[in-house]
Amino acid sequence: GTAQIGVTGLAVMGRNLARNFARNGFTVAVHNRTASRTDALVKEFGDEGTFVAAHTPEEFVAALERPRRLMIMVKAGDPTDAVIQEFAPLLEDGDVIIDGGNAHFEDTRRREKELRERGIHFVGAGISGGEEGALHGPSIMPGGSAESYASLGPMLERIAAKAEDGAPCVTHIGPDGAGHFVKMVHNGIEYADMQLIAEAYQLLRDVAGYSPARIADVFRSWNSGRLDSYLIEITAEVLSHVDAATGEPFVDVVLDRAEQKGTGRWTVQIALDLGVPVSGIAEAVFARSVSGHADLREASRHLAGPTAHRLGEDEAAAFSDRVEQALYASKIVAYTQGFHQISAGSERYDWDIDLGRVASIWRGGCIIRAAFLDRITSAYEARPGLPVLLSDKSFAEEIAAAQDDWRTVIATAVTQGVPTPAFAATLAYYDSLRAERLPAALTQGQRDYFGAHTYHRTDRDGTFHTLWGGEKNEVES
Ligand code: 6PG
Repeated sequence: GTAQIGVTGLAVMGRNLARNFARNGFTVAVHNRTASRTDALVKEFGDEGTFVAAHTPEEFVAALERPRRLMIMVKAGDPTDAVIQEFAPLLEDGDVIIDGGNAHFEDTRRREKELRERGIHFVGAGISGGEEGALHGPSIMPGGSAESYASLGPMLERIAAKAEDGAPCVTHIGPDGAGHFVKMVHNGIEYADMQLIAEAYQLLRDVAGYSPARIADVFRSWNSGRLDSYLIEITAEVLSHVDAATGEPFVDVVLDRAEQKGTGRWTVQIALDLGVPVSGIAEAVFARSVSGHADLREASRHLAGPTAHRLGEDEAAAFSDRVEQALYASKIVAYTQGFHQISAGSERYDWDIDLGRVASIWRGGCIIRAAFLDRITSAYEARPGLPVLLSDKSFAEEIAAAQDDWRTVIATAVTQGVPTPAFAATLAYYDSLRAERLPAALTQGQRDYFGAHTYHRTDRDGTFHTLWGGEKNEVES
């Protein structure tokens, strides 16, 4: 075979990735279960590069130069296993299968192990950037063996997005499931980022009394500052869009029930297992969940709330500046939590993930791309063992400067009855980390009282229990 890469699964992501490879000068074998899709791709985009259309798995594998590089772009879960089972028997020692879907990293670990035993490299690669990214340059988070990256890396570097300094947005994340794990947390952060933006929008709408079009302008101005990011940019686009059918703001005609495909939920599930507090991400997942409970919301419409107090024009402008501060501070916390999870995963699974590198390959191509990520890279470069991102000096200073406004915004939300779960959770996390003493001591006391669960003391080593039922003497256990 002559094709340097093959792509099977030609739905929009697979098709666009195949075109991206071809546009970058690679010969690309393409295959799809329904052959008409393969032919349609070649017919429509054949002039963009060199495609080899394969109509059967055998043809597809034969079209690839060795060692073969075969990218699977099918639905995560069972369909991925089915495709692996279909192709693995046709492959040989040293061939590489790349799964570019949003697979669960535990599945990727299992698949990598099984295929490794058969002499096949399996690379679970997180790919972010949606359809446009796939075509023009995504951010790519490949896991798998270092050996597989040696053969695959240069190709991925060609098709990946380039950051402002020209660096390709791809790096070998770490062995087995590391790439999909990092992509999962990327999506968790994406959920938090989106929820924080949504809360900022709601506050500007309900408290400042701004129209969607006006809020779009506010977001546009934020986008030229430190919040400069893809998500803020598209938020302005969405908010300024007017529905053609009704002439109403688009955001007012869309059903307010947020859906999810699972990666945000996985992030939180795994964070619970790892014991990592990702409260901002969790609130973002729960906010989508609340929005989807139509019956619950219908039954609760009559519940009492505070009397809303609309701000005057000058107050509204000042409030809008405060919301920017709040959004930025909460965003720092959300990323802090996400990076903590990556570092915990890396430790648990022995992945040795370079956190600064992760931030740097998110600078381009992906959904959470933002100017701000450079700062995260610098923070980890300055101090590779940085225990918590927000303790980095420059982030700590920015939060210090933002915190009065951050608190005022959340207090206003509370008094006005505007739900801001992600703002509030991220501030609570910040205050928890700052606290000299936490009420966890009381929790320990309660646990010891009702269940003899024991506690430790601040003043000496050992495990203690108080005999609560009698004289309340303390015993060492
Ligand atoms: C990306 C996105 C992408 C997908 C999300 C959407 O990085 O390109 O994260 O992978 O759009 O998974 O997730 P939900 O459907 O769960 O919002």
